Amino acid sequence: MESKQITPEQEVLGVLGGKINRDPFAVFEDLRNNGSVRPIPMPMGDPENQTWIVTHMDQAKQVLKDQATFCVDPSTIEKSSYTKTSLINSSEEVSSNLFLSNSLNALDEPDHRRLRRLVSRAFTPKYMESLRPSVQKIADDLLDQVQDKGEMDIVVDYAYKLPINVISNMIGVPESDREQIYHWSEVIASGLGVGSVNEDVVKSLEAFGDYFKQLIDEKRYQPGEDLISELIAIEEEGDKLTEKELLSMVQLLIFAGHETTSNLISTGTLMLLDHPEQLKLLKDDPDLVPNAVEELLRYHGPSTTAGPRYARKDTELGGQQIKKGDILFPLLKSANRDEQVFSDSEDLDVSRDLKRHLAFGQGVHMCLGAPLARIEGDIAFTTLLKRMPDIKLSIPREQVQWQFKLAAQGLSSLPVSF
Ligand code: HEM
Repeated sequence: MESKQITPEQEVLGVLGGKINRDPFAVFEDLRNNGSVRPIPMPMGDPENQTWIVTHMDQAKQVLKDQATFCVDPSTIEKSSYTKTSLINSSEEVSSNLFLSNSLNALDEPDHRRLRRLVSRAFTPKYMESLRPSVQKIADDLLDQVQDKGEMDIVVDYAYKLPINVISNMIGVPESDREQIYHWSEVIASGLGVGSVNEDVVKSLEAFGDYFKQLIDEKRYQPGEDLISELIAIEEEGDKLTEKELLSMVQLLIFAGHETTSNLISTGTLMLLDHPEQLKLLKDDPDLVPNAVEELLRYHGPSTTAGPRYARKDTELGGQQIKKGDILFPLLKSANRDEQVFSDSEDLDVSRDLKRHLAFGQGVHMCLGAPLARIEGDIAFTTLLKRMPDIKLSIPREQVQWQFKLAAQGLSSLPVSF
């Protein structure tokens, strides 16, 4: 029987859905060689509208920046049959609870601008910098707990715990509730991949929402020195966050603020262990760490793709005719390896003079938490290498397991000795 050759355009669905037999970066390279904008077969796609992936830097930037042509909310496009949640094929029950479908990341202008301006008042660079001492304390406390054992699981003991504690401190989630929050958001993130149909997340979504509703109510009556209290108080030109917007925002921050950053720390550590000469450069010169964080974000950043964008009108992109209503996925990990932008793009080089990468996206939706993630990455790697300079992988490299959640690739475990 003739065996059918699977194309990289078909394989990329496996990458987004977490079912892939090949190195995702090899798939991205094949895709880039086929062109900057490629049609992909989307099983749950609308037959009227094509789904595309955008693989090169220039075109990915264009999709992320040109709001007149591309938007995040398909319901604003006349005759579009998509809703914000149709790509995850969720039930109405999931959709109504899904904060991700009605918060900042899923809004276009003018609502996006209004909301982003309000929260940006709380997310100033000065405020982010002021968090350094508390981030440092969290990193040190976590390493204190394992230092004498001579071994740890980077994912479980360090990479997951650091960001969830940082964002919880910032938002004002009591310490005793953090395990629970972490558990809910894990279930939600694992159950909502592109194209996945997992209804088990409903209960976690409800519980996650109810918990934060209650916490916000408590902060109204008893404000503290935390972001929820600040967001409640923020009012600009008579404008303030509505109850619903505040709830979505807080959930989005928790969700967006820990999974991604923990992937940066754990995947970044593995990449350094895979490249001992790069690890040595960092150990010899810790001042290189901030640059290394940028290179690790470029080389193997947490987000495979930005959220889907929808064409507002017929347009041409990368030589392809895009029709109004078509969906486009800007593949951040592919754009970040674009050989036309980065020399030796498949090499990790922590001292690289780095041009701007796309790991935090670009344009109006560019990551709100990027300055915080950079501080966390800087402190996490600096502290780890200072305190555990002899760090080594304690399982054979081929036993390291990847897991895929919400179109992001991370590690389930990374046992090391030091
Ligand atoms: C290494 C860590 C992180 C990475 C790689 C990352 C990546 C991203 C990317 C790619 C986007 C844009 C998505 C799009 O355009 O569709 C984004 C948006 C966002 N991120 Fe992050 N993120 C990280 C950490 C954080 C943290 C720590 C926070 C919060 C404290 C955060 C909050 C947000 C928010 C609120 C948005 C939506 C912004 C908007 O739509 O205006 N992220 N992030």
